[in-house]
Amino acid sequence: MITRKQPVTMMYSKALIKPDGEVLNYSDTSSGNEVLVLIHGYPFDQSIWKEQVIALSDQARIITYDVRGYGSSSKGKERFSIDLFADDIIFLLDSLQVSKFIVCGLSMGGYIALNLVKRYPERIKGLVLYDTQCYADNAIGKAKRYENIELIRKGGKQKYLEDMCKILFSPATFQKNDVVIKQTLDLMMKADNEVLMQTLEAMAEREESCSNLSSIKFPTMILCGEYDVLTPPEKSEFMQQQIPGSVLHIIENSGHLGICFFFLAAGNKTLFRISR
Ligand code: MLT
Repeated sequence: MITRKQPVTMMYSKALIKPDGEVLNYSDTSSGNEVLVLIHGYPFDQSIWKEQVIALSDQARIITYDVRGYGSSSKGKERFSIDLFADDIIFLLDSLQVSKFIVCGLSMGGYIALNLVKRYPERIKGLVLYDTQCYADNAIGKAKRYENIELIRKGGKQKYLEDMCKILFSPATFQKNDVVIKQTLDLMMKADNEVLMQTLEAMAEREESCSNLSSIKFPTMILCGEYDVLTPPEKSEFMQQQIPGSVLHIIENSGHLGICFFFLAAGNKTLFRISR
C-alpha cells in the first residue's frame, strides 16, 4: 500500500547544542526517503524556505537551519568562513544520522553547498544552485565587502541593508510588492552587526569552486533570475557548462531573491524533480 505523507503547514525549529555549548537551530520534517537540505542566503535565516517546506514536505524529508549567527543559531567564537559554515551542516547531519543528502543553496547558501561538494562529495546525492556562482570575489568585489564592513562598523547598517534590499529583486517586483519588500528588510535588519561584518569577510575570503565543477557526478539543477544583478545569469550559464549533465533554468522576470519568494512554482518544480 502506498501511503502519502501529510504535508507540513508550519516549521518548528529545534536547537542542537554543540559540545562547546553553541546552538545550531534547525527544522526537520523527519520523514521521507530522500533528504533535502536547504541553505539560506545572506543575511537571512531559515524562515525564507517556509513556502518550499510546505510545498515539498510530502515528497522528501526537508532539513533547514539557521547559518551560525542568524535566526536562533548562536554565533560561536570562531572566525566565520565558508568552510566553517559547511562544517556546521555536516555536524548537524551527523547528529541526525543522515549520511547522504541533496543540497540546495541560495546565493551564499550556494557558496556553502559548493564547498560541501568540494570537501564532502561522498555525502552528496544531488545539487540545486539558486542564484549563485562558483567564482571567488575579484579585487573590486573584495574591496566593496571591506567598505561595507567599515560602513556597518560606523553605524551605517540600515543604509547598507536598504541599499542591498533594492537590488535583491527585479525593478518591477520591487515597485509592486511593498509588503514583502518591507518584510525582507525587517528580516535583514535582525542580523547583528558583528555577524554581518564577519559574514562579509567570510564571503570576501572564500575560495573559488569553479575548478571542481567538472568532477560533479550527481544530478544538478541550476536556477537563476533573468534580472539577478548580484549573481547574473552568465555565472549560472558558466556553471551549467562545467557540470556534466546539469540543467539550467533562467526564471523570467525574477531578480536575485525572486525564486524564493515570488516565482515559487518554478523553484518548487525543480526541487520536486530532484527530490524524487
Ligand atoms: C547572498 O544573497 O547570499 C549574498 O548577497 C551573496 C553575495 O553577497 O555574494
